[in-house]
Amino acid sequence: MRNKIIAANWKMNKDEYESKNLTYEILKYLNKTNNPSVYKILCVPFPFLNKIHNMCAGVNMIFVGAQNCSAFENGAYTGEVSSAMLKSLSILYAIVGHSERRIMFKESDDLILEKMKRLISKQIIPIYCCGEPFSERKKKNHIRYVLNQIEQSVCNLKKEEIKKIVIAYEPIWSIGTGITAELEDVQEMHFAIRKFIRLKYGSSVSKNLSLLYGGSVNPLNAKQIFDLPDVDGGLIGGASLKSQDFIDIVNSIN
Ligand code: PGA
Repeated sequence: MRNKIIAANWKMNKDEYESKNLTYEILKYLNKTNNPSVYKILCVPFPFLNKIHNMCAGVNMIFVGAQNCSAFENGAYTGEVSSAMLKSLSILYAIVGHSERRIMFKESDDLILEKMKRLISKQIIPIYCCGEPFSERKKKNHIRYVLNQIEQSVCNLKKEEIKKIVIAYEPIWSIGTGITAELEDVQEMHFAIRKFIRLKYGSSVSKNLSLLYGGSVNPLNAKQIFDLPDVDGGLIGGASLKSQDFIDIVNSIN
């Protein structure tokens, strides 16, 4: 089933005290009003996974996710965090392939593929990010660029594995800039991704794929974006750091 998902990507913001406060504020609201058909996922920094997960325990439809995961299984990889470690904390989601990691940490499609395989092997759902730089959009090559990213990583998964991922389309030029993609451009890309998956894996996979949009989503533009036919929710950066904005965005999805 295409699940409705609003995922928060806190990135490298907030210390422990601030993280707990933000979670507390979100939970306080959800205890009053909580749409049971929307998955709320807080993707928080590694050191706070356990604490935030414990705070969210017992609250309906709120989950905690990581923002990364090692491509290696275990061993001498100083500083890495494995999918088995995430699993041992009962973490159910992890972002992979975010453009910040692709660009700043030189993550390749192959590495991202390995990370997804590690996560899926531990029953953790990868939130796979893709998206084009502005130069590709200017050349009108954006769809080919994004489908090629998907082809190089996602399409090397088995059909059964692809059923276990979420895809987030995040145009790089829109992330953290306050510039949101035009609604027709968002729909065009989401339609193209779903069609690509349908042609490769059949409609049983494409019609159940949750496709998120990310890039300067805020409480004012969220509803129009989430109402688009091929958009199933959002991956929210900056606006997820303020409890009221995040809740308003959660409430924008039907
Ligand atoms: P933004 O970030 O909402 O601040 O643009 C989105 C993301 O990077 O996932």
